[in-house]
Amino acid sequence: MTHAPLQNDRFLRALAREPVDRTPIWMMRQAGRYLPEYRASRETAGSFMDLCRNAELACEVTLQPLERYPLDAAILFSDILTVPDAMGLGLYFETGEGPKFHKTVRTEQDVAALPVPKAETDLDYVMRAVSTIRGALNGRVPLIGFSGSPWTLATYMVEGGSSKDFRHLKAMIYSQPEVAHALLEKLALAVTDYLNAQIRHGAQAVQIFDTWGGTLSAEAYREFSLAYMQRIVNGLIRDHEGRKVPVILFTKNGGLWLEAMADTGCDALGLDWTVNIGDARRRVGERVALQGNMDPAVLYAEPAAIRAEVKRILDDFGNHPGHIFNLGHGITPHVDPEHARVFIEAVVELGAKKNGP
Ligand code: CP3
Repeated sequence: MTHAPLQNDRFLRALAREPVDRTPIWMMRQAGRYLPEYRASRETAGSFMDLCRNAELACEVTLQPLERYPLDAAILFSDILTVPDAMGLGLYFETGEGPKFHKTVRTEQDVAALPVPKAETDLDYVMRAVSTIRGALNGRVPLIGFSGSPWTLATYMVEGGSSKDFRHLKAMIYSQPEVAHALLEKLALAVTDYLNAQIRHGAQAVQIFDTWGGTLSAEAYREFSLAYMQRIVNGLIRDHEGRKVPVILFTKNGGLWLEAMADTGCDALGLDWTVNIGDARRRVGERVALQGNMDPAVLYAEPAAIRAEVKRILDDFGNHPGHIFNLGHGITPHVDPEHARVFIEAVVELGAKKNGP
């Protein structure tokens, strides 16, 4: 399929550490509950998963933040837990309680019985959403595809939902590491296939969300999270439609391990707000672009404080190529959409020509 030419490529240019006219910006969870129009679409769909399964509605909510704000990228509307759902675990959401699975994965037998889903068929609804969104964007901004990291997906599959201490999975890595490795191996295969299918359907960059890698020790992070993200990076389609398809690794609370993450050969690192972005840049040098890293809680503050924090981050990064402005984690449901506007407009204004030629 041929697509309309890209009108705004500053996000892809920044990922390639090329000069841009201003710092590009998008927000993790930019299509979400802080937007009243998102809540209305979810109501129409019936539930969150119905919204993900309906390509037209998933497309509608993907575009909602772009209609409001001058954002430089769109992100596929879906969820990281579609992959374990396709492995037969039965994903459901209970209001106020977050995601849950009907089945958990706790034993060697459970892992052996897990199928590796084929994204094109078992996750065909996600691929339809990708194609529909890409068509509707019509070259306006690039489309980001995504997946959870094997480690992060495993936390939900083994615990059966969200967790504070990851008791069962952590017990598994220390007492039966070979079972954990067998699970992570299957997940790495599934995620590689899933992201490549998204790329073939039109995703122009991909991000791997390792939300829970930062709960591991330094050694366990390398063995149980980073090693599997490395396999994915090695197996991804890196060129498509005559352009590079950049890959962004985001380990929340992974600030101590940025050099090792950059060594995977990824194109960019997503940063949470616990590291100074200038220090991070000095540590990883020109090898990767950096995406981040404002504390999403700053959006609860007054406009003057939001603008000051944007300026502080831009100044700390300095006049170099390779910065994509973002929050350090997803925007939260209680944020006033007008505060999100102040944030985005501050980046557009203050990031102007910062790293231009
Ligand atoms: O960024 C975007 O706009 C794209 C969409 C997106 C969603 N989830 C939509 C969503 C993305 C990229 C995700 C990733 C995701 N999902 C992660 C990794 C990123 C992160 O935040 O760390 C994780 C851990 C999940 C798992 C997940 N899905 C949880 C924990 C929840 C419940 C959150 C809560 O507060 O109830 C979800 C549901 C979910 N995924 C929502 C959205 C907009 C809210 C569902 C709703 O409408 O009620």
